[in-house]
Amino acid sequence: MSYKVLLADDDINILAALKLQLKVEGFVSTAVTTPNEVLKALKEQCFDLILMDLNYQQDTTSGDEGLTLITDIRKTDALIPIVAMTGWGTIDIAVDAMRRGANDFIEKPCDNNRLFNILKNLLALRDSQQRSQRLATENELLRKSTQPEHWVCQSKAMQQVMKLVNNVAATDINILITGENGTGKSQLANIIHQYSARHAHSFITVNMGAINEAIFESELFGHVKGSFTDAKVNRIGRFELADHGCLFMDEIANIPLSQQAKLLRVLESGEFEKLGSSKSQQASVRIISATNADLDHMVSEKLFRQDLLFRLNSIEILIPPLRERVADIPVLANNFFKKYSQKYQRNIDGISLAAMDKLIAYQWPGNIRELDHLIERAVLMASSSEIEADDLLLKSSITNTSNITDSANNEDWAQLSMEEAEEKLISLVLRRCSGNAKEAAHSLGYSKSAFYRRLDKFGL
Ligand SMILES: Nc1ncnc2c1ncn2[C@@H]1O[C@H](COP(=O)(O)OP(=O)(O)OP(=O)(O)O)[C@@H](O)[C@H]1O
Ligand SMILES: [Mg+2]
Repeated sequence: MSYKVLLADDDINILAALKLQLKVEGFVSTAVTTPNEVLKALKEQCFDLILMDLNYQQDTTSGDEGLTLITDIRKTDALIPIVAMTGWGTIDIAVDAMRRGANDFIEKPCDNNRLFNILKNLLALRDSQQRSQRLATENELLRKSTQPEHWVCQSKAMQQVMKLVNNVAATDINILITGENGTGKSQLANIIHQYSARHAHSFITVNMGAINEAIFESELFGHVKGSFTDAKVNRIGRFELADHGCLFMDEIANIPLSQQAKLLRVLESGEFEKLGSSKSQQASVRIISATNADLDHMVSEKLFRQDLLFRLNSIEILIPPLRERVADIPVLANNFFKKYSQKYQRNIDGISLAAMDKLIAYQWPGNIRELDHLIERAVLMASSSEIEADDLLLKSSITNTSNITDSANNEDWAQLSMEEAEEKLISLVLRRCSGNAKEAAHSLGYSKSAFYRRLDKFGL
């Protein structure tokens, strides 16, 4: 590709001669005759270099017009190389031109060898500046798109997820994260916020599964003193706290239907009122929500408002279950191993191959949280230099499929739907834990509320 040079001189004979020379040397040039035309051409086209005279009116030799032009060019373009041509060889004018931002000067009539040496050097310099600028931008982008240290996304499935995250994180678009329990929804919400333009502002979490209907409004929008019996002081709600930042609404499927309309209104207008106040307030909030429920199904059952769902899921990111991202298992397992062997100061070398095979073959209904807990227990249980397959079996009766299969009277688990398998697994583990729900929830890697919801769902 040829370099494009903007040529400026009031003497059309000089312009014609220079144009010809430049063409011979492989440059493309545009010639103009006044300072105004120079500025106009720079607005309209891209050039790689400017070669310009300093005097534009006959009989003037002061160089003032050219010097002003250099100043004007530098106001909008700090980098384009400028070479000034001085008709009378006055050193003072040349020095002034350089001070104002010209990169070099040449006396007229131009010595062609010297002229092209100057042009080539300046263009080479500009190219290398542009290259390093590009590299710096790329590094910056790479830094931004690099995941936090412990966030594992080795598998193809997670790479796809992160590609989508990189595309949408910086925008203000509302995002719904879906996925089974323990797949990393909450952590991903945080990562998205870190990559967003709002990262310097708050990331406020509200767990919809944990707030009941009575305090919903007060939690989300705040209240004024005296608005209800327990309202002893004014309170700022999560929505206001998240102003300019991000509100992460976890377990979004748990919003009572009666409150969904209120939330929808706020999301649509950005306006809300504190409980007990009629004064409207504004907040600019980016919403990320998460659920492990099937919201489409809930919409069809009239348990979730469709218009609210449309507000929340402008972009939907599904985090695949761990069993569908097997490549992540060894990395995660080794990370958790390092974490816990350090925490408990256990002198163990690592996870044996046989144990790793077991981890890979397992179905992980509790996903990454379950793997985390399992490795923690294995680190504590291990009695040899490596974590052995048996150490994984030791801590709980549900750490491998054969064990489950035996206990389930050899029924073929592979024939079951996920939901059926989950129900069976929960009742099995409950029985093993003699009905102790807390213990069962822990060994399956469920949070307490998630576990109780399942008991409720399956009528256990
Ligand atoms: N890709 C990952 N790399 C490393 N650790 C992860 C990853 N995803 C999740 N984790 C870890 O797994 C655990 C569960 O993650 P998290 O709480 O985000 O899941 P969740 O989908 O929100 O679960 P729940 O449905 O119960 O709310 C956390 O300790 C988290 O740090
Ligand atoms: Mg969560």
